[in-house]
Amino acid sequence: MTNTVTAEQFNYRVVRQFSIASILWGVVGMLVGVIIAAELTWPDINMGISWLSYGRLRPLHTNAVIFAFGGCALMATSFYVVQRTCQVRLFMGKLAEFVFWGWQAVIVLAAITLPLGYTSGKEYAELEWPIDILIALVWVAYAVVFFGTIGIRRVKHIYVANWFFGAFILAVALLHIVNSAAMPVSFWHSYSAYAGVQDAMVQWWYGHNAVGFFLTAGFLGMMYYFIPKQAERPVYSYRLSIVHFWALIFTYMWAGPHHLHYTALPDWTQSVGMVFSLILLAPSWGGMLNGVLTISGAWHKLRDDPILRFLIVSLSFYGMATFEGPMMSIKTVNALSHYTDWTVGHVHSGALGWVGFVTMGSLYYLIPRMFGREKMHSIKAIELHFWISTIGVVLYIAAMWIAGVMQGLMWRAVNPDGTLTYTFVESVKATFPFYVVRLLGGALYLFGMLVMAWNVWMTARAGKAVEAPIPAPQKLAHA
Ligand code: HEM
Ligand code: HEM
Repeated sequence: MTNTVTAEQFNYRVVRQFSIASILWGVVGMLVGVIIAAELTWPDINMGISWLSYGRLRPLHTNAVIFAFGGCALMATSFYVVQRTCQVRLFMGKLAEFVFWGWQAVIVLAAITLPLGYTSGKEYAELEWPIDILIALVWVAYAVVFFGTIGIRRVKHIYVANWFFGAFILAVALLHIVNSAAMPVSFWHSYSAYAGVQDAMVQWWYGHNAVGFFLTAGFLGMMYYFIPKQAERPVYSYRLSIVHFWALIFTYMWAGPHHLHYTALPDWTQSVGMVFSLILLAPSWGGMLNGVLTISGAWHKLRDDPILRFLIVSLSFYGMATFEGPMMSIKTVNALSHYTDWTVGHVHSGALGWVGFVTMGSLYYLIPRMFGREKMHSIKAIELHFWISTIGVVLYIAAMWIAGVMQGLMWRAVNPDGTLTYTFVESVKATFPFYVVRLLGGALYLFGMLVMAWNVWMTARAGKAVEAPIPAPQKLAHA
């Protein structure tokens, strides 16, 4: 039951819907992750059913975790943060509803078409052109609601979290529209508007900035709001957050070619990608430190507060992934890491450790507020979730790092007569135990997500759907 809605209340309905959807899709996407991890370990378990095959389920996993789990969490938090920091009800509530249902439609269409094998073949942009058009429409509506709310704000200042969310929304619109340009040949098939190496360059300009803006800038928006809130302290340095913002968004745009080292892409372009990737270390670590130092003087809170622990530990994984990424972009290092499971380890230290943890911390903050409760049903369950998923991430990424370096070294080992020391299949056999460990790590992470889903269900059951009043104008500065 929702309270009577007035313009003097924040719109929590759409925030609540996106929060619940994020958890639901998180469970689904991670379950598919566990299934494909098992398929890499024991390939026969797909039982010869085409729509259960690895090639079909892998894009389903990436789309579900990035765009469904991550996307819904970003929409929930950005809609919450923009209202709270602008002290005004969300602009065009009906359009916000369209954003919610439109985005769910995109997700359901993806979940049907990907296992059926409909794909444009571009990583992270696999969906076919009719769905791409729907994504563009929903995204424009999202931008109108978000920027419209900023436009009608009652606080002069635009808090830094909104800058990050805003950059994420604008950049993703640009990336999606440019990279998805295609010539349809039938309702479910199309060819890219680009060809050859230009196609590869556009794809990885998109792919890398999907990481930079979808998996990073948006989640940094979350970080800048929820860490100060949960720690009950102001952000460590507001000035640093502004430098962080401009340096990060400027640098990310140029780093894409590091995905195309040693390809037909002109050599100088690859070097530009490498140099900008190395530079990226500075703003990334500046932002990480800004978040971590926000709790300086209150470190003891980490001992008792598992939500804050999720948020702060997410930043240490962010620091790890953004140190590793620049290293992997060095051409000689990439010659070893590319094509190996090292890349997969890097991806999941960012995805599970950074994106996953910052999302979980933020949702644990949001959920009780959405249901009129003071706190989550069980703090012990949050504690359990934290430790289980931490062990899960560590097992996952350590297994992939060792497997990756081993594969790279095995593939390049040569005998004195110039022949290869190992056949490819020997490297596959040597990887088996690491795939088992990764599967175990993934299963633990998924179990943690199920604990969260149970905790959210219990919290929602004990509470009721609420809307919060917008504080009176004279109190705005402190709201
Ligand atoms: C300073 C920041 C970062 C830099 C410079 C960087 C650099 C790199 C490099 C060099 C690769 C390997 C490319 C290849 O050999 O094909 C890579 C792959 C990847 N990284 Fe990062 N990374 C950074 C941060 C992150 C973060 C925080 C995340 C996730 C949240 C992430 C997600 C990915 C993904 C998904 C891929 C795999 C792309 C693919 O081949 O499908 N990266 N990154
Ligand atoms: C239970 C948790 C998870 C498990 C077991 C899991 C498992 C996997 C597996 C087996 C792959 C294929 C690796 C390969 O091609 O060799 C993969 C790829 C990928 N996953 Fe996950 N995953 C999980 C959670 C996540 C989350 C939460 C995210 C993002 C927020 C994510 C993002 C990705 C990405 C971007 C790739 C493609 C990597 C690349 O192309 O290099 N995963 N995952």
